[in-house]
Amino acid sequence: MRLIFVGPPGAGKGTQASRLSAERGITQVSTGDALRQAVKAGTKMGIKAKAFMDAGQLVPDEVVIGIVREKLGSDACRDGFILDGFPRNTGQAEALGAILQDFSAPVDRVVAFTVDDEALVARLSGRRTCPSCHAMFHIAYAAPKQGGVCDRCGGALVQRDDDHEDVIRKRLAVYAAETRPLLEYYEDRGLLTQVPAEGSVDDVYSALLKAVAG
Ligand code: AP5
Repeated sequence: MRLIFVGPPGAGKGTQASRLSAERGITQVSTGDALRQAVKAGTKMGIKAKAFMDAGQLVPDEVVIGIVREKLGSDACRDGFILDGFPRNTGQAEALGAILQDFSAPVDRVVAFTVDDEALVARLSGRRTCPSCHAMFHIAYAAPKQGGVCDRCGGALVQRDDDHEDVIRKRLAVYAAETRPLLEYYEDRGLLTQVPAEGSVDDVYSALLKAVAG
């Protein structure tokens, strides 16, 4: 199955992608995770990307398109993928179309998760992640058993630099201006299914399974 997950920051793309990936064995390709790894490793690309990410802006297209081209060409993606957070503008969508044409691997479905802006701010400002094993928590909705400690590996949980309210609101504005037009782009191509994502993680996952089954 070849899927694209679109949605505003905090809509649950990463949460749902990692669950579907674990249950169905489909490779998750997250441009956000790839960029954070590059930042952590201090690569030239990571240093360039960090300033954009911290400001809540999109990283330049040529950087993320290069990441996606490499990942989609790997063995792990030969039998399918979930693109989590890419594309984010029509230029990236056009580039993706060309990449997938080269690989003769058309997209099966584009899932757009929809959530009200204030709920997104609450989700993101409470998110905590584990830098060691990448497990994700929320201080209210998915709290770790012991405050600040990862249930999975015992690592110290951190708040992402871009999960402070001023940056969250900037990211929401960037989504509205640059990414939301993709809904119409993929609707016009008969690929879009919208999934309301304000319910529990389990409810959203059930709706997602229905969306990708048809
Ligand atoms: P990225 O990491 O992709 O961030 P994002 O798209 O802003 O998405 P998030 O990871 O913040 O949210 P999500 O929808 O995955 O929600 P999650 O499941 O984590 O990108 C970061 C930055 O990298 C960008 O700002 C940009 O600079 C750059 N970048 C990345 N891709 C790029 C691209 N293609 N082009 C250019 N630049 C790019 O959930 C959020 C929280 O809510 C968690 O705490 C979770 O536990 C909780 N939660 C999830 N579901 C529910 C639920 N149903 N109910 C209650 N809580 C929930």
